[in-house]
Amino acid sequence: MAQCTELWVDRTDLRTTQAVSLPLPEPGEGEVLVAIDKFGLTSNNVSYAVAGDEIGYWGYYPALGNWGKVPVWGCADVVVSNCPQVPAGERLWGFFPMASHALLQPGKVCDDRFVDLAAHRQGLPSLYNGYRRTRAEPAFLQAMEVERCLLFPLLATSWLIYDFLVDNDFFGADQVLIGSVSSKTGAGLAEMLHGAPEVGQRVVGLTSASNVAYVERLGCCDEIVAYGREACIDTSVPAAYVDMSGDARLTATLHRLLGNNMVNSAMVGATHWEQRGDTGDLPGARPTFFFAPAQIGKRDAQWGPGEAMARAMAASARVANKWQGELAVEWTRDVDSLARLWRQLLDNGVAPNRGLMVSLL
Ligand SMILES: NC(=O)c1ccc[n+]([C@@H]2O[C@H](COP(=O)([O-])OP(=O)(O)OC[C@H]3O[C@@H](n4cnc5c(N)ncnc54)[C@H](OP(=O)(O)O)[C@@H]3O)[C@@H](O)[C@H]2O)c1
Repeated sequence: MAQCTELWVDRTDLRTTQAVSLPLPEPGEGEVLVAIDKFGLTSNNVSYAVAGDEIGYWGYYPALGNWGKVPVWGCADVVVSNCPQVPAGERLWGFFPMASHALLQPGKVCDDRFVDLAAHRQGLPSLYNGYRRTRAEPAFLQAMEVERCLLFPLLATSWLIYDFLVDNDFFGADQVLIGSVSSKTGAGLAEMLHGAPEVGQRVVGLTSASNVAYVERLGCCDEIVAYGREACIDTSVPAAYVDMSGDARLTATLHRLLGNNMVNSAMVGATHWEQRGDTGDLPGARPTFFFAPAQIGKRDAQWGPGEAMARAMAASARVANKWQGELAVEWTRDVDSLARLWRQLLDNGVAPNRGLMVSLL
């Protein structure tokens, strides 16, 4: 009999996992059972676990006791439906657990999307409750499933940060410093800035010495600075810092070097999740969380609902196409190998050119 395979992570010790095999769940009234045949895995998923309690990521697919199911972006088929508007055979893209199957409760169904209305998800950030019914989407998007799992949620954020900087006239900065620029989100932002003829700001990427060559190959920065060599940065020029690393020491170093020339400091990610910490008072602009839904909301009010995300998707597709050949997509198809990959991600053991795709079906 078919089983549901899942990887559970100990919420109190992210390096401890267990493989779980359960009978397939039966959809209740209004629910659908989906078979998840692909999902992507990047540091962003580690951040979901690290911020699982703070932001509520553990709440989308609850497990038992201390265990949690880390959410991932994936594609799935509806295999059993008790929801007439979303019949078996539908293809979906959205937020799933690291698992082979899941139950959803579609509501507010439109041609190309629906919202999961399960009671336990209603208090959580609504962005992640939306699912795309991909058969109603343009053919070019349907042909980009791997890229949508692996890159689109990250590159859409890159575009929203790009738009936030443009919208604010770069806060007067003449250079944009990007922490953990080898990350897909960081490199995506660098690419969007560097490739925009209307943007004159220099793009300065910060990364580990071992990742400098990779970022050089992408050709998305005017200057690449290895961690530890921050003193090379031109501090006489006003700078906006966009931080994907979450490394408190790096933030403090940059603020002290730039002083009042640090005109904006946006906290976006925490790839260096074990180096997070309180930076205390720092010279220059106060580090502030970048809240993507605020930028979407502002643009929706100005441009009309959905326009900002449509532009973010178009930019994501452009960058994903440009990176073809740079990212080596590799597939993992069993839960024990997934557990090993998860630990490698936690321990910075995944080179930036690796594109991790998983299927537990
Ligand atoms: N707030 C939002 O809305 C939002 C949206 C999307 C992404 N993000 C955040 O942006 C960050 C980047 O995500 P991503 O998926 O694009 O990353 P990714 O491509 O998986 O990033 C890989 C890079 O991150 C660094 N890294 C990875 N694991 C590490 C570890 N254990 N210790 C130290 N460094 C590590 C390394 O870069 P370096 O050597 O260059 O440091 C590595 O090359 C994440 O924290 C993610 O949550 C936030």
